[in-house]
This record gives sequence, structure tokens and C-alpha cells, in this order.
Amino acid sequence: LSGTNTGILLVLAHPAFERARANAAMLDAARTLDGVAIDDLYELYPDFAIDVRREQELLATHGLIVLQFPLYWYSAPALLKEWLDLVWLHGFAYGETAGALRGKTLLCAVSTGAQAQSYDRSGLHRYTIAEFLRPFEQTARLCDMRWAEPFVLHGAALLDDAALRGEALRYAARLRDLSSSCQDGSR
Ligand SMILES: Cc1cc2nc3c(=O)[nH]c(=O)nc-3n(C[C@H](O)[C@H](O)[C@H](O)COP(=O)(O)O)c2cc1C
Repeated sequence: LSGTNTGILLVLAHPAFERARANAAMLDAARTLDGVAIDDLYELYPDFAIDVRREQELLATHGLIVLQFPLYWYSAPALLKEWLDLVWLHGFAYGETAGALRGKTLLCAVSTGAQAQSYDRSGLHRYTIAEFLRPFEQTARLCDMRWAEPFVLHGAALLDDAALRGEALRYAARLRDLSSSCQDGSR
């Protein structure tokens, strides 16, 4: 597979997207950008029967890979893990002869139920979101990708529609910034 470093692949993993508020607002905002391919995992693979070739092709042909999901038990919903396990294979994503993902950027875009201040040593959840996302960070590094500072939308249920729209705009701006820095090869 020939690699490219332009365009955004937005991999969405939400098991109940029809009831989503935060992720729906984020997706709507992302759709307004040029060159975004939406890869809706639960829509495509409700039975977890992932088309590995198709997913590898999508990864290889985009430069900014976004993993968008609601935080479930301090991690991603199950299908995103299955997707990583089946698609990010030795010989494709990592290993001596691999390199399909090299130089691409990985962004995790996460919504949480809990508020920002609870993701702290002294808070209920004790660790920061960056700490909970370490497995994704190190996965990116193992595959010679650039790791972007995660986008986090906190306290989804506590935000009214206007606040949610503000967060969605912040998300779109972040995607725009990152995708232009991917294309000119800078950070
Ligand atoms: C199974 C499950 C596990 C969850 N685990 C967490 C969690 O670990 N931390 C947290 O802040 N919120 C947690 N939540 C809340 C969701 O993250 C929150 O409802 C979601 O981000 C809101 O986005 P949405 O409106 O797009 O669904 C959980 C929700 C469910 C259903």
C-alpha cells in the first residue's frame, strides 16, 4: 500500500451513536472540513467482522488519523480495540519491513461524562486523561507516528447545546490546525 500524508481519516467508535450528543456535535463539526473521510466502525461492523484490507487502505491513504470515541471505563469502546488488534498488524503498522503509518499523526478525540477537575491526582478518577491514553500514545510511537495532544470534551452531559456547539467548533479548529501542519510536514 502506498502511503499518503494528506487528508483526515476520522475513525468513529460509538456503540450508541443514535443517542450521542457530544460525539454527534463533534462529528457534525468535523464534516464541515474539506477532505475528511468518516470511518464509522459500529455502523460498518456491528458484528465486529472488520474488513481488514479496507481499513488498512484507509489508514495508508490519509495523513491525520483521528480516533474519536466516548471514554468507556477509562478506555475506548470495545470495537476500537478490536480494530487495532486486527488492522494494525505486524508487517503493516510496525516491524522491520512495515511503515504504512510512518510519519502520520494520531489524534485521540475523546468525550467524557466526568468533569475535567476529576481527572487529577486529588480527583475522583485520580489520573489524567493523558495517562489513561498511554496505550494509544505508545502504539503511535511504536508505529513511528506523531502523537498529537489529545482533544478532550469533558462533562458531556453537563453541557447545554450552546456550550456543546462551542466545544464542537474548538474540535473543528484543532482538526484544521493539525491537518495543515501534517501537510507541510511541520509540527
Ligand atoms: C459503558 C460506559 C462507560 C463509561 N465510562 C466512563 C468513564 O470511564 N469516564 C467518564 O468520564 N465517563 C464515562 N462514561 C460516560 C461517557 O463517556 C459519556 O456519556 C460520553 O462521553 C458522552 O458522549 P455522547 O453524548 O457522544 O454519548 C461511560 C459511559 C458508558 C455508557
